[in-house]
Amino acid sequence: MCGIVGYIGSQAAAPVIVEGLARLEYRGYDSAGVAVMNAGGIKVTKRAGRVKDLQAALPKRLAARIGIGHTRWATHGGATDANAHPHQDASGRVGVVHNGIIDNATALRDRLMSDGVEFASETDTEVLAHLIGRSPASTLEGAVLDALTRVHGTYGLAVMHADYPDRIVVARQGSPLIIGVGDKEMYVASDIAALVRYTRQLVHLDDGDLATVTSTGFRTFTSDDDDTGRTAATVNVTVEDIDDHGHEHFMLKEMLEQPTAAERVLRGRLDERFGTAHLGGLNLDARQTRAIRRVKILGCGSAYYVGELGAGLIEELARVPADAEAASEFRYRNPVIEPDTLYVAVSQSGETVDTLLAVQEIKRKGGRVIGLVNVVGSAIARECSGGIYVHAGPEVSVASTKALTTMSIAFVLLALYLGRVRDLSVRDGRRIIAGLKRLPDQIQEVLAMSDELKEHGEALSKADSLFFIGRVRGFPVAREGAQKFKEISYRHAEAYQASELKHGPLALISPAVPTVAIVPHDELMDRNVGALHEIAARSGPLLVITTADVDLGQPVGGRVDVPRSEPELDPILLTIAVQLLAYHAAVALGRDIDKPRNLAKSVTVE
Ligand code: AGP
Repeated sequence: MCGIVGYIGSQAAAPVIVEGLARLEYRGYDSAGVAVMNAGGIKVTKRAGRVKDLQAALPKRLAARIGIGHTRWATHGGATDANAHPHQDASGRVGVVHNGIIDNATALRDRLMSDGVEFASETDTEVLAHLIGRSPASTLEGAVLDALTRVHGTYGLAVMHADYPDRIVVARQGSPLIIGVGDKEMYVASDIAALVRYTRQLVHLDDGDLATVTSTGFRTFTSDDDDTGRTAATVNVTVEDIDDHGHEHFMLKEMLEQPTAAERVLRGRLDERFGTAHLGGLNLDARQTRAIRRVKILGCGSAYYVGELGAGLIEELARVPADAEAASEFRYRNPVIEPDTLYVAVSQSGETVDTLLAVQEIKRKGGRVIGLVNVVGSAIARECSGGIYVHAGPEVSVASTKALTTMSIAFVLLALYLGRVRDLSVRDGRRIIAGLKRLPDQIQEVLAMSDELKEHGEALSKADSLFFIGRVRGFPVAREGAQKFKEISYRHAEAYQASELKHGPLALISPAVPTVAIVPHDELMDRNVGALHEIAARSGPLLVITTADVDLGQPVGGRVDVPRSEPELDPILLTIAVQLLAYHAAVALGRDIDKPRNLAKSVTVE
């Protein structure tokens, strides 16, 4: 989704900004632009298309040492040069880049137009540029504040003004923004990836924060001009972490990183003596943990499906009622918040607006929320009272893989911890721990099956539509398989509980509609096999993802056997197989693997 980069210091600003924008490409965008400022005023260059199109359009000699840039994902108005950011006011002395949505933009625009203001774009952001330019305030900070008091909506905002050539003013409300601290140079960005080449000293802004950034420092403050005193912290991310290391795609690189990511999420968290997990970050003591009567898990997309897996694990190991819900729905339905429910927000980016707003809704009603988050210091992580960082490392591909795997493992740890505070035996706790310790090597074994899965993926890529089926433990795997297929191969893929087939979808089974069946070795194995035969009897092509000791009866088409783990952990290994399947299908179709059409890495706007 949209990205912001800003620079002020002693270097030429444009190349720094363009490099930062290129690092944000993975988030998804359809146009890009840069504004630089010197004594002559502000010069804007913007283009629909890729950052390289912008780079080609930039004048060769741009010596200005202050500038802002943006990658835009169209919301208000199409992906055109005119709608690309930065936007300017009528005088051309103001330059604005903005992530988020101004909800009352239409009303403000009408009012400005009736005052004779002419608009150069269809965007909500241009409204902000005009409001800032028309403010009578005697400082840039005052003008930005004037504008912000008139808008409703979300923003990560960076503003330059030719009358104040020594500063960039930024503001954050519902859309991430960080300041990077250099040596007599400062940076602004919406994402760490844009800055890691330059600095690891970062200041995270909170909602409601504004900041003045000059080449020698920064000041953070509220809309009442009270200092918020944010300070810089060192982040543990390097350029290496966000490099593809020669892999054809980031998605492939990130899938291959799963064994090490699995080791990281487990490191220091296994207590073999007591058969439990060390999860100090939850900030819950044993009494508070015992008082939990229900667990409600919230996330979006694949994070929601991992939540379903987590809910199953918590019910199974801790015998606490648990369920998962799409955060995007939960936040809109005036949910009942119970004091003895533990709410768990799941998010790779920690920025997903629907999940963030769900967390805020729960907190507003007095509920306790913990986070399962990858990005350290992200908005959701900071909003929660505690949680588990999954330590997957930076994830660039829009299709999430290693983060989801580490989230699944973190849910096993959470279920183990909750279980051992209740009735899960130490023996079962140790059994799960032994399984977890084997997991990184077993993930490696599944990754080594890539060629086999490639053959199946290529065959499946030829179908316009396919089913993924599973039941209970296998169903979240089926949902994730269908999700990955849709996301990166653009094929229609639908997940169904195997138990529900005969209640409708069986009517669609035909030789043209293949089914990928997830069949773990568990107590439902025979029932799953029964469903396979129903499909085979209707000439539906089948690929079964299972383990070697599952007897499918008569031959039912293709099968892929992943290593067997503990029943509670098998879904994690089965998921690695469906990731590879979707990846190879999408490669066979020549899709844009890391940046699938219409999708963004972090959905930070509503
Ligand atoms: C996963 O492959 C998807 N790109 C998407 O469903 C994602 O999981 C979802 O948007 C949630 O993102 P988050 O984990 O950053 O909150």
